[in-house]
Amino acid sequence: MQKVITIDGPSGSGKGTVAKILSQKLGWSLLDSGALYRLVAFGAIKHGIALDDCDALAKLALNLDVKFELQADSELLIPVFEGENVASLIRTEECGSAASKVAALTPVRDALLDRQRAFLTEDGLIADGRDMGTVVFPDAPVKIYLNASAEERAERRYNQLKNSGETVSIAAILNEIRTRDERDMNREVAPLKPADDAIEIDSTSLTIDQVVDQISDALSNVGLI
Ligand code: C5P
Repeated sequence: MQKVITIDGPSGSGKGTVAKILSQKLGWSLLDSGALYRLVAFGAIKHGIALDDCDALAKLALNLDVKFELQADSELLIPVFEGENVASLIRTEECGSAASKVAALTPVRDALLDRQRAFLTEDGLIADGRDMGTVVFPDAPVKIYLNASAEERAERRYNQLKNSGETVSIAAILNEIRTRDERDMNREVAPLKPADDAIEIDSTSLTIDQVVDQISDALSNVGLI
């Protein structure tokens, strides 16, 4: 049995936070696959590559010059792209939206496949994304599809941005979330959807701890922990 758990779902569903907590709790590695798509988008903008230039984007994705370094005093992995710490630069709404455009291109997805699978080691892996259970790790023994209403996800994102000093209207965030959901769910390649054997969790009215407990139960049910 592969020691991997996949957590897929739309942005703001809480999967990033849950994946981090589980990775710390279990001592398993973490794959934040969205960061890879964000890095391709960031690199494209940095190097003036058009977001529909399939060949150039695939080449960039295949040769992505990124290292994930453990930050001193924390367990967080920091993406260092072409020698620069880009942790906060790739987290902007602009980069998220550009990421969802490049992520719709098959050659870009193909170029990132081996890099994502290489994160799986004997230590175990929590894989967070949109197609972790459907495409990247189809044999994962535990697959989670984490969802929440668009309104709840917009409110979470709004509070996150407010806490980091950014002022954005909640209506604009909701609009951006709906546009991104629409693009991610309706693209031809690896659309966002639950794997047939996924456990679906709606986190709208759950705390992070409750979600982590439900996933931990699923892991112990199959004997992974
Ligand atoms: O999860 P995050 O918001 O960082 O992902 C940014 C974008 O990257 C998503 O909107 C989605 O289009 C794309 N993505 C993807 N497949 C993944 C992870 C992210 O298509 N496995």
